[in-house]
Amino acid sequence: MLEQQLESIEQEAISTLDNVDDAEALETWRVANLGRSSPLMGVFDQLGQLPKEERPAIGRLANQVKQSLESKHAGKVEFLKLADLRRSLETEQLDVTLPGRNIPIGRLHPITQTLRQIYQIFAEMGFQVYQSRDVETDEYNFQLLNFPPHHPAREMQDSFYIEGEFDDENPVLLRTHTSPGQIHAMREYAEENPHDPPPIRIILPGMCYRHEQVTTRAESQFTQVEGLAVGKDITFSDLKGTLSDFNKRMFGMQVRSRFRASHFPFTEPSAEVDIECFVCGGKGCPVCKRTGWLEILGCGMVHPIVLQNGGYDPKIYTGFAFGMGPERITMLRYRVEDIRYFWANDLRFLEQF
Ligand code: DAH
Repeated sequence: MLEQQLESIEQEAISTLDNVDDAEALETWRVANLGRSSPLMGVFDQLGQLPKEERPAIGRLANQVKQSLESKHAGKVEFLKLADLRRSLETEQLDVTLPGRNIPIGRLHPITQTLRQIYQIFAEMGFQVYQSRDVETDEYNFQLLNFPPHHPAREMQDSFYIEGEFDDENPVLLRTHTSPGQIHAMREYAEENPHDPPPIRIILPGMCYRHEQVTTRAESQFTQVEGLAVGKDITFSDLKGTLSDFNKRMFGMQVRSRFRASHFPFTEPSAEVDIECFVCGGKGCPVCKRTGWLEILGCGMVHPIVLQNGGYDPKIYTGFAFGMGPERITMLRYRVEDIRYFWANDLRFLEQF
């Protein structure tokens, strides 16, 4: 009797398990078939009422059914877990072909790029970078560079003056060019050995300031790179060689340079240097205004008074100096039409470099 009952309990349980397809239904099944008040547990309860000799056989059988149902239950638990995983893999697919989000990469300002190229070229020729101050006295910015007070050459460089309790004869201003760094550098080098000062080969980069009408060609703030070489037996041909070579390395090996006589108070003789227009190769085009030449920098042999002011005896030492504008060079190279773009901080412009 009980044997048949156990058999049908088992078959019934197995057949209903087939219909179970989620965790909730499985739990209901477990309670119904293996729980305290399940028919199977009822059989265990009845064991005590059986004649002694029948108990072991029925007990063993009941245990087998219990173990069989427990293992079917465990199998179903695993089965449902796998089904769940398969479902989530299908519905929550990660699309690895989706394009990633760009991380914007910063870049160097176009003027910084030009400056670094200039440093590189002069470094290869043995010039070190010398940093000088942005705030200067009239003495350094003008007087020691052989611009006497009221000299008309000052008119080219209208200045921003700093308010304060300064000497009327020597006001404080924002430097209008990098040339005052020449005096600082010479004085610093000369201090090392005043009777036989060491030779100098430096470039002096930095921001300059002029109180000017701001136009497409002139800004109130711009960079310059000054150069200074001082030593014994430095001649104008050293100047020509150095700057012609610089122009070739900067603008292309085929580029020719032209030196035109000019005037600066702190150099004598003075020159302006042009390069053959790299846009039209010298034939004449709108960039070179049909002249075939582009003005690149000013230069000259350091004036004896300036050498003297720097602590170098002009009877023993000579030197050359030059000054160029990285904005102008960058404008020519990339045909930038308005100098104001450089410091206006507009990413639409800056991102093009
Ligand atoms: N200081 C000059 C200017 O700002 C540029 C210059 C010209 C610098 C000739 C020099 C030089 O050292 O020799 O206009």
